[in-house]
Amino acid sequence: MLSATMPRGFAAPRAPCRSLQTLRCKATGGADRRDVLLGLGGAAAAGLLRSSSSSGGGALAAPIQAPDLRNCHPPDLPDTVSDVNCCPPCAGTAIVDFTLPPPLGLRVRPVAHLVNKEYLAKYEKAVALMKELPDDDPRSFAHQWRVHCAYCDGAFDQVGFPDLEIQIHNCWLFFPWHRFYLYFHERILGKLIGDDKFALPFWNWDAPGGMSLPAIYANKSSPLYDERRDPAHQPPFTLDLDYDGTEPTIPRPQQIDHNLMIMYRQMISGAKKKELFFGLPYHQGDQPDPGAGSVELIPHNTVHFWSGDPRQPNGEDMANFYSAARDPLFFAHHGNIDRLWSVWNGLHPGNTNFTDPDWLDASFLFYDEEARLVRVRVRDCLDTAALGYTYQDVALPWLNAKPTTEAGSPAPAAGSLPATLNQTVRVAVTRPRTSRTRQEKNAEEEVLVVEGIEVADHFSRFVKFDVFVNESQSGGGATAAAVQCAGSVAMTPHLVRPGKGRGSVKTAARFGICDLLDDIGADGDNTIAVSLVPRCAGDMVTVGGVRIEYVK
Ligand code: C2O
Repeated sequence: MLSATMPRGFAAPRAPCRSLQTLRCKATGGADRRDVLLGLGGAAAAGLLRSSSSSGGGALAAPIQAPDLRNCHPPDLPDTVSDVNCCPPCAGTAIVDFTLPPPLGLRVRPVAHLVNKEYLAKYEKAVALMKELPDDDPRSFAHQWRVHCAYCDGAFDQVGFPDLEIQIHNCWLFFPWHRFYLYFHERILGKLIGDDKFALPFWNWDAPGGMSLPAIYANKSSPLYDERRDPAHQPPFTLDLDYDGTEPTIPRPQQIDHNLMIMYRQMISGAKKKELFFGLPYHQGDQPDPGAGSVELIPHNTVHFWSGDPRQPNGEDMANFYSAARDPLFFAHHGNIDRLWSVWNGLHPGNTNFTDPDWLDASFLFYDEEARLVRVRVRDCLDTAALGYTYQDVALPWLNAKPTTEAGSPAPAAGSLPATLNQTVRVAVTRPRTSRTRQEKNAEEEVLVVEGIEVADHFSRFVKFDVFVNESQSGGGATAAAVQCAGSVAMTPHLVRPGKGRGSVKTAARFGICDLLDDIGADGDNTIAVSLVPRCAGDMVTVGGVRIEYVK
C-alpha cells in the first residue's frame, strides 16, 4: 500500500546497486569519481610508517581512513547469532567525496515526546517506506541498521592494518561518526517522502518530560515499534540514566533529580576537557577502544541497556551494538547524544572541538539518499547548520543540578589492583599535586585514570561499575548521584578480535575530579581512597590500576 507512494528514484527494487551505480555516474560526472583503490595508496604508506603494534599516536600517526568495503568480513557476533551479515550490499561501488547540502534553511529536529500528529504521520510513513525497500538497497532499513553493526563489530579492517579493526565507539570518533550516521539516515527518510525539510525526532531524556520511552515508539501498530525491548520499560515508566539492570525503588521525582545530577556530572563537572568529553584519540594503527568520553559512558550506554530486551540472549536490540540500530528508537536516542555535543560546545568557551588533523581527517563511508557511496571526513560535520539542521530549543534543567554530598567519613582502602571486580575494590591512590590554585585547576584538570580495564572473552553481557572517591560506605551503598561518585564505566557488549581470533575488549576510563575533590574537602589530601563498585557483570571485568594524571 505504501509503495504506491514511493517517489521516483526508489522505484527499482531489483539489483538496486547496479542501477544506482548508473544513476550515480550520471549524477556526478567524471571529475569526482574515485575508485576505492585510490584510497589504498596513502593507507599502504601509513602501514609502512607505523607498525601495527604501535599505539597512542605519535609524529607518524595517521587518521582512521574509510574502510575498503571489499574487505568487509563477517563481524564478531555473539555465539547465538548466526544469520547476520553486516556488510554493505554494494562493495564495488565507486566513491564520491561528501559535499555540504545546498543551504535550504534549517531542518529542525523535534522533541520526540512533543511531536504532533501530522509530523508523526510523516515520520511513520518515511520509516515504513524505508522498511519496504529491498534488503540489498543500501537505503533500506535492513541496510541502515547493518551500517552500525559493521562499524561496531569488527567487520572492517583499518586500511593497511589487516589485524586491526575499525571501532567507532570508546574513542574520539564516537560523536562525529554517529552525527554522519543520523545525517544520512535523515536525508534518506526525507527523500522517501519527498520532503527536504524532514528532520528526525530526538529523545529528550535529559529533561523530566523526556524521561520515559517516547510514546510514539511504543505503539504496536507503528513502524517505529520494535518488540525486542524491555517490556517493563514501557511509557510512562521512569527512565534511569544510571541503569544497571536492577529497577530503582525510589519515587519518580527522586529518580528525576538523580538523573539530572548524573547529567550535570557527565556534561559539566566531569567533562571539562576535550578528551574527557569526546573520548581518547584513536589513529590508524591503534588498538580499538582507547577510552570513551563521559557522555558515551553514561547515559549513552546505560540508555542502550535500559532499552534492550532482557529476554533476548544478547540484550537485542538496543543493548547490543550489532543489533542496536534495528530499533528505530536508536535514532532518537542518538539525536539527543548529537544534540548534547552542540550543547557542550556552548556551555563554556573552552569546550571546543579537537583541532588535531588525525581527528579532522578521519573518514568514513555512508550511502546517501541517492544511494551513492560517500566518503565523509570528520571536519565536514562540525557545523550542524552547514549540514542543514538544528534542534528544537529546549531547557537544560541539569545546568545547576550539582550532586548531593553523601555524609560519613571514608572507609579504609585496603584493596589492591589488578583485580577482578566480583566485589568492590578499594585502593589508596596518591595525588602528585594538592591544593592547586583555581587558575592551575582551570589550566589542568585532575583526572582519575582507571586503566587496564579488560572485559573477558565473549563480551555479551552489559558491564557497569561505579567509581567513587572517599566513599563512606564500604559496601558500595552510595548512589552514582552522590558527589563522591566520579562516574561509571558502562559498556555495551561488542566483541573484538586481536589478530583474527576473538578477544577481549581492553579499554581505560578517565574522570575529571577537580570539583569532586573540592566538594568533599579532599583537595589538600595526598592520598584518596578510590572504590570500584561492580553493578553488573563484575565477574567479567578486570581492572589493572588507578592513577592520577593532569589534562590540559
Ligand atoms: Cu553506536 Cu549508541 O551506539
